[in-house]
Parts: sequence; C-alpha cells; structure tokens
Amino acid sequence: MDFFWYNSVMNNFKKVAVLMGGTSNEREVSLVSGHNVAEALVSLGKYEVIPVVLDADDLSALPAGVDACYITLHGGWGEDGGVQSALDARSIPYTGPGAAASRVAMDKIATKKCLDAVGVPTAPWAVATPSKPLDGSPFGYPCVVKAPRDGSSVGVYLVKTPEAFASAVADAARIDREKFGGEGEALVEAFIPGRETTVGVLGDEVLPVVEICAPGGWYGYEEKYNSNETRYPFPEDGFCPEMQRLAKAAFDATGCRGVTRVDFRVTPEGQMYVLELNTSPGMTSHSLVPKAAQKAGLSLPSLCDRVLGSAAHD
Ligand SMILES: Nc1ncnc2c1ncn2[C@@H]1O[C@H](COP(=O)(O)OP(=O)(O)O)[C@@H](O)[C@H]1O
Ligand SMILES: [Mg+2]
Repeated sequence: MDFFWYNSVMNNFKKVAVLMGGTSNEREVSLVSGHNVAEALVSLGKYEVIPVVLDADDLSALPAGVDACYITLHGGWGEDGGVQSALDARSIPYTGPGAAASRVAMDKIATKKCLDAVGVPTAPWAVATPSKPLDGSPFGYPCVVKAPRDGSSVGVYLVKTPEAFASAVADAARIDREKFGGEGEALVEAFIPGRETTVGVLGDEVLPVVEICAPGGWYGYEEKYNSNETRYPFPEDGFCPEMQRLAKAAFDATGCRGVTRVDFRVTPEGQMYVLELNTSPGMTSHSLVPKAAQKAGLSLPSLCDRVLGSAAHD
C-alpha cells in the first residue's frame, strides 16, 4: 500500500490542551503519552500547547479558552465516553471518537455485537453472569475469560481447565460489578492460537500491520509493562491486506474518529479475529501506533497534527 501524507493539516486551532493522567490504572502510561504528544505538537511551531494533567474524573483542571483538546488519557473516564461527553457539553473539539463510539469500543461485549453485525470476525463468545454462570466453557479449553469493560489486561484470564473456569468467571464478573454495578458480566471467548498483531487506523488511512511477539504468546499485563522480551516486527504475510481491510471496517462499524488501534489474533491457517479496539492508543516512544506511522513515513509530529486535524465534538 502506498501512502501520501499531507505536509500540514488545515485546522483553525491555536490554543490546544493535551489531556493526560487521569484516574485509571493506565495513568502513568498516559502521562508519558501526553508529554510525548505535547512535545510533538510544540515542534510544529503553530500551536500554543498546554499540557493538562487530570487528577479527577472532571475538567476542573482545564483552563478556559482552549480551541481543542488532544486526549491522551488511557482507560476509564478518559476513554469510555466520560471526558468526551464533558467536552461535548462545553462544545470543545477533541481528538478520537465521540462519547457513543468510545463507550462501544471500551465495552468488549458491545464491540463484539457491533462487529458481528457487519461481519468482522471476532473470537466465538458467550456471556456468563453470577446468576447464569454457564456450565463450563462452551468452547473447550483453554478459553479466555475477561472482565468486559476493563483494560490493560486486568481481569483477563487464560483458563486451562474446567476447574478454573467458575472462579475466573466469578472474578471477572466481580471486577465488572464493582466498577459498573448490576450483577456483573464475564465475557467468555474461544482461545485463538497463533500470532498477535495490531493495525492503526487513521481516518481513511490504514497503517502497516505490526506483530506483537510476546514470550509465550500471551500479551498480558506483565508482557505489556514489565517485560523487555516482546518484539514488534512488521510482518509481510499474505494476510496483511485483508487484516488492514478488516481494521478499517471495525473502525467504521464502531464510528471511530482520530487514530484507533485494532488488535488481532491470527491462526496458523491465516484466520483473523479482532480482539479489541483501542480508541486512545499509547503514544509513548515505545508505542505501536507511532512505530507503524514512522514505518509509513509519517513522523510523530505529523501524526499528531493529523489526529488533531480530525478533532470534533458532538
Ligand atoms: N480469545 C483470545 N485468544 C487468545 N489470546 C487472547 C484472547 N483474548 C485475549 N488474549 C490475550 O490476552 C491479551 C489481553 O486481552 P485483551 O482482550 O486485549 O484485553 P485488554 O483490554 O486487557 O488488553 C491479548 O493481547 C492476547 O494476548
Ligand atoms: Mg488488549
């Protein structure tokens, strides 16, 4: 695929706040993303950039008079439609999807319904609740049990035996219940063997496929944040163009905007499944979207400029 990037993106923003930090368990990563994006925007020389660290789930730290917000909050209120609704209420344009699409992407069950409806494949799935716990995995073992509205691999369990199934479901449902009330739900998925990849979608452009080669084939919390052994090559397999098409279809089906990272598993036979969408992907110097953009000839400042150019509010 060939890429053609505009040198500059037209927008009328002058004063831009970069929102970072927040209260989720991804606060520290968000601070790194935020400072990285702020520095990139400053280097363009055309914006007055204001780094804004949020310490609560509200906009009290946001100064008056900003023309747009670049959201580098990860997880929680910053990614689930919360900050998006608050900015809509103030009519301030922001990067990334609107509140409704953010809410869908943050909810793995809602995402699956949305992707099922347009024929984008996801791992076979079922929902278990404490009152309807399922009599073991419908997909055999291993299977994967997840808290459906969490991130960073907190509440994601690789379940290898029938004995471990009930307690994983109970745990995932408890995490869901403690955060969102109600009975709590657990998402049960078939385990997809094979490789893990991710694709950044930036409006109409689709970035190159990046592979995530984690030791042991599982990209959990340890592998994401505490391991130096994970490698991120750019595969050139025959499945890449179709994977890029599916990533764009997932982006469109959920109503995304800005830059979104679509994560996949691909079996040894080349069968692809979308795992999840990250509507506020990491923007640190180690993050995958900036790496993929670089590979496509798009520097971090240009990437941030394009994302900012797509900022809008509802
Ligand atoms: N159905 C699955 N089959 C195989 N591995 C999976 C499956 N679901 C999740 N994983 C592994 O667990 C990791 C975290 O799961 P994910 O759904 O992305 O949750 P999170 O929102 O916590 O990142 C994935 O990156 C992948 O390595
Ligand atoms: Mg993930």
